[in-house]
Amino acid sequence: MVCGSRPTSTYPSSVVVEAFAAEEALAEVLAGRVAARMGAGRPLTLGLPTGRTPLALYAALARMTRSHRIDWSAVRTFNLDEFVGLGAGDPHSYRTFMERHLFDHVAIPSRNVGFLDGRAVDPAVECARYERAIRAAGGLDLVLLGIGGNGHIGFNEPADALIAQTHATTLDEPTRAANAWWFGGNPAAVPHQALTMGVGTILSATEIVLMATGAAKIAPVRAMLQGPVTTRVPASLLQLHRNVRVMVDADVAAALA
Ligand code: F6R
Repeated sequence: MVCGSRPTSTYPSSVVVEAFAAEEALAEVLAGRVAARMGAGRPLTLGLPTGRTPLALYAALARMTRSHRIDWSAVRTFNLDEFVGLGAGDPHSYRTFMERHLFDHVAIPSRNVGFLDGRAVDPAVECARYERAIRAAGGLDLVLLGIGGNGHIGFNEPADALIAQTHATTLDEPTRAANAWWFGGNPAAVPHQALTMGVGTILSATEIVLMATGAAKIAPVRAMLQGPVTTRVPASLLQLHRNVRVMVDADVAAALA
């Protein structure tokens, strides 16, 4: 490479990419790995995403929990984000999403579930509380991520600069449109703002696994793996972490080859 030239599309060596024929197979393998980490009541602190991507994973975890009597008593969770104005009991909150798709199906003690409260009167105070809670839990062992079509992780949207810690943020229009399905298909109903873990919070995890499935994720996954580290593709900051695995389906894998 010529000194001073733009970075090439070389893979960052520390990021492991794993390809699966379909999202169900990916979900089954990842659920098995996560479940194995919880074995025999071992403590595990997870960072968890919402959205369409983890649906198959949560279904597989719920199934495995039933069939293998997995013990969630020492598991702690911190979700990545929540919409401003929404919280527990709201049908469109991410908290409700998690209850419906995971927490109602596993015996996790409610005190072990960490969530940002989108209804907090002072978002800054709420975000600081969340950071303290994560620290008090001993930090995040494993963060699971999806990726936005624009390369966001959590709700860290592309920008000239990113905020490292948990913070309030404004959602890009494509992000609001992508979330319309959770609001009865009405993009106008999607809040404009959200609270999100920052990229620094995510990068503080011991281990990170990003799932990407479907043709819409080809461009952001290519940018995060093959492009430069840039705040314009927030997921590209994962190249700086030493223990990142990207699990993709055949659609995404074919485009990376
Ligand atoms: C949501 C989150 C987001 C999503 C991303 C992809 O908690 O952290 O970064 O992972 O927007 O969403 P889906 O999976 O719906 O394509």
